Amino acid sequence: MNEFKLAFNVNNLEFIKAITEAADELGVPIILQASKGAIRYMGLPYIVALINSARSQVKVPITLHLDHGANFEICKECIDAGFDSVMIDGSDLPLNENIALTKKVCEYAHLKGVKVEGELGAIDGIEDEKSGSLNYTDPAEVLKFANETRVDSLAVSIGTVHGAFKYKTENPELRLDILKKINELVPDLPLVLHGASSVLQNEIAIINANGGEIKGALGISEEKLAETKKFGVKKINIDSDLRLAFTAGVREYISANPSEFDPRKYLGAGMARVKAVVKNKIKIFYGV
Ligand code: G3H
Ligand code: 13P
Ligand code: ZN
Repeated sequence: MNEFKLAFNVNNLEFIKAITEAADELGVPIILQASKGAIRYMGLPYIVALINSARSQVKVPITLHLDHGANFEICKECIDAGFDSVMIDGSDLPLNENIALTKKVCEYAHLKGVKVEGELGAIDGIEDEKSGSLNYTDPAEVLKFANETRVDSLAVSIGTVHGAFKYKTENPELRLDILKKINELVPDLPLVLHGASSVLQNEIAIINANGGEIKGALGISEEKLAETKKFGVKKINIDSDLRLAFTAGVREYISANPSEFDPRKYLGAGMARVKAVVKNKIKIFYGV
């Protein structure tokens, strides 16, 4: 993973299609990732088949990744099902247990040519049905973790938060100093930023103008998040912004067309908003 990529969470055909089309139209490679919740919702065979279908329609590379794998078994299942990479999230374990688990996943994955993302430190917010609390990545642990696990990329905690309700105040702090230190210690290890939705206020305004009620949701601007690329970040994860965009599109369509009941119409409207948001992010983060 030496070139920068955005990673988008997917749970259905509409998201896969919208994101893939946006990437293809702008000519950039992207990562589509599935969480445990996405796997439970869609079923592993559907995910793999839909991603393969998406790949067959475009020229750009599409990587399929497991997001927040909680244990060896789910990582193995995804590796065996044909995923290109998996994340083993041992961030809530003591360091030595995180190392042992990540190493075990790496040993299995590497035999099959699959890449592994690990995590050190803990990212705040709601993630995969559990609530995390902030624990900045300790740069002092990074070299040991990287050397002993042979991990291919590392998710770091520098102040980003999962979900739409990230911060209580605007302009929250991002610890670029920690990121810089980590990057200096392991300059060849690609770093990953989770919780990188900006919580797009325009999408929230549309949701709220059409019967929704989302209050107090705040994020960090895309421009500020993009600065992390200067310090080794090669993968930036986005889920919440696409959920907001999809909901905005569906709500707006249904409000404007109260007698319409063809799902293709309102899901299509959601898909169009997701595609527009993805295109905008690609322009900002890839500079195309
Ligand atoms: O970091 C977690 C992602 O946003 C996935 O969320 O578990 O609701 O699919 P999910
Ligand atoms: P957001 O909730 O900020 O979109 O983060 C998604 C994420 O980190 C998925 O792993
Ligand atoms: Zn995450």
